[in-house]
This record gives sequence, structure tokens and C-alpha cells, in this order.
Amino acid sequence: MILVTGGAGYIGSVTVERLLEAGEEVVVLDNLFRGHREAVPSSVPFYRGNIGDIELVARITRAHSIDACIHFAALAYVGESVSEPSRYFENNVEQGSALLRALLGAGVRQIVFSSTCAVYGEPREIPISEQHPQQPVNPYGWSKLFMERMLEGYDKAHSLRFVALRYFNAAGATEQHGERHQPETHLIPNVLSAAIGSTAAVDIFGNDYPTPDGTPVRDYVHVADLAAAHLLSLRYLSEGGCSQSINLGNGNGYSVLEVIETARAITERPIPVRSQPARCGDPSILIADATKARELLGWSPRYSELSEILRSDWEWRIKNS
Ligand SMILES: NC(=O)c1ccc[n+]([C@@H]2O[C@H](COP(=O)([O-])OP(=O)(O)OC[C@H]3O[C@@H](n4cnc5c(N)ncnc54)[C@H](O)[C@@H]3O)[C@@H](O)[C@H]2O)c1
Repeated sequence: MILVTGGAGYIGSVTVERLLEAGEEVVVLDNLFRGHREAVPSSVPFYRGNIGDIELVARITRAHSIDACIHFAALAYVGESVSEPSRYFENNVEQGSALLRALLGAGVRQIVFSSTCAVYGEPREIPISEQHPQQPVNPYGWSKLFMERMLEGYDKAHSLRFVALRYFNAAGATEQHGERHQPETHLIPNVLSAAIGSTAAVDIFGNDYPTPDGTPVRDYVHVADLAAAHLLSLRYLSEGGCSQSINLGNGNGYSVLEVIETARAITERPIPVRSQPARCGDPSILIADATKARELLGWSPRYSELSEILRSDWEWRIKNS
């Protein structure tokens, strides 16, 4: 059985959907701070609580025979981490550390961890491979890097094996699940909310980055492709694979303005924009070199074009609005 922390969140709920389709048994632990109870099917055992609650994690591991954990649960907003760093270190690092101790205590030694391209900081070369130096530029990135280092320590000392998946920008939707954070800070949901009319305009943060049109460039990867990489990582670990850190991205970069233009074409709506000052801790370009994911896991993303990713989110949003 697989323990999924943060399984009521955006990427977690899609991964639970895919695990169930693959015939896996799943149990979810989520405090619902930013997740949705209805995103987890009623057939899945659900525990509402904190990953840092060692007693609760011990109870879950006693009640279910846990073979592996996919650890999504975290706070994940770059801007919030800059203004409120202690929340990020408490939630992601202190509670994450308690979770790992509880899992080790229960003999769970296979972990797939949600890491991020934010562990690299301002890139020195593009595309970014896993060998790129790790120098985060915000507390969110540091909180994920601390967790990666902790996992490495537990690997050496206690033979815990892990795959740290460093996602670039998750986006898109399946038929059942899409992105609905509250507050929403991610570009694509905000662009499509403006297209639907639930917000007046999209904020563009900064227009003088060293990029072709002055707005930041990101690598968008479909949430279903991310979910597929988690299943492949579980298989890799269950076959005895050693610990790895692996990038997940499409290798294509799109600027904020390109995302908005593509969304206008797909939605056939105007999408008004508003200029705002650049945000602290936002690198100018983040594009993945995901060769390792392809070679080691056999991962091959089904959605490589921004337009396909946007369309999946738009269709889901129209259906659920
Ligand atoms: N969305 C992205 O583009 C992206 C990119 C890189 C990495 N990530 C990482 O992927 C993971 C999932 O991201 P997401 O976009 O699905 O976020 P999300 O906020 O939708 O999901 C996170 C879930 O974790 C839960 N949670 C948070 N702290 C918890 C705690 N202490 N105890 C129990 N539950 C807790 C929340 O309630 C939420 O349901 C996060 O670890 C995030 O850092 C996301």
C-alpha cells in the first residue's frame, strides 16, 4: 500500500487517480489546509492531519501495511515563503523531518519526494540538468533542498531509498482534477480565470527580465505526466533502484506573454492584463533538461505542447465553472 501525503492537493489528487487506475492501494494523509476533501475518492482511506504528527503517522503505518510513501504535502508559494519564511521551514522542513522519522520507525524505506526546480536558484546554464549547482533564491527552494539533504543522510545511515522529483511548472488538468489553489498564484489558472471572467485581469510581474519579451520564461509540464513519473519512480524503487534526483519538465520555455497569447487563441476571449512590479525571488528563465527522467525511468511526457496543456485546463475549468 502507498501512503500519499498531500493527496488532496493538485498534483497529489491526480497521482492518486493514476495509482488507483493502475490497481494500487492508496491511503491519503492531508491537513486540507490547501487541499480539497472531495478530490480524494471516498473509497480511499483518508486521514486529516499533519505530516508532522508522529503519533498519527505511526497509527497509519500500523493500520495499513505501507510499502512506500509519495510525499507531496508542503506549502508551495515562492512569494509567501519570502514574506513568511518561518512557516515554510516549520511546515516543509520540521514537519517533513518528523514524517521521515516516523516512516523510518515504521520500516518504510521507499520514498518519492516532491522537489522543485527552485532548488537550483538563478540558473547559470539553460537547460538545467541535475548537476546544476543548488543555490536557492527563496525559502521555499531552501526548504525543499533541506529535505533532499535529509533524505541523502537517511539513505547513507538507514538504507532509505528515494527519488526526489524536481518538477518545473506543473499545469493542466485531467477530466476529474484540475488546479484550484486558494489563493492562486500560478500563472495558467490565473490566466484562465481571467478568460472565464472570475477575475478582472491577469497580473504580469515584471517586464524587464533578460528574456526576449522581458517576461519570465518557464517550462510547463502536464500534471498527468508528473503523475506518471511518480508511478515509474515507485516501480524503479521497488525493483531495487538506488536513490536519485530527477528533473521533470518538457524542455520548452514559454514566457508569460506567450502563455497569455496562447490562452487567448484557445479560449477566444480577450484576457485583460495588468503590469505589476517584479516579484522578489523569481528567476528569469527556468527550462529543464529532463534526459535523466527519460533514460532512467523511461518517462515520456504525453503533453509536450503548451497549447495542449492549456486546453486540458480550459476544458476542465469550463466543465466545472
Ligand atoms: N505546482 C507546481 O507547479 C509545483 C512545482 C514544483 C514542486 N511542487 C511541489 O509539489 C507538491 C504538490 O504541489 P501542489 O501544487 O499539488 O500543491 P497543493 O497545495 O495543491 O497540495 C499540497 C497539499 O499538501 C497539504 N499539506 C500541506 N502541508 C501539510 C502538512 N503539514 N500536513 C498535511 N498536509 C499538508 C495541503 O493541504 C495540500 O492538499 C508540493 O510539495 C510542491 O512543493 C509543485
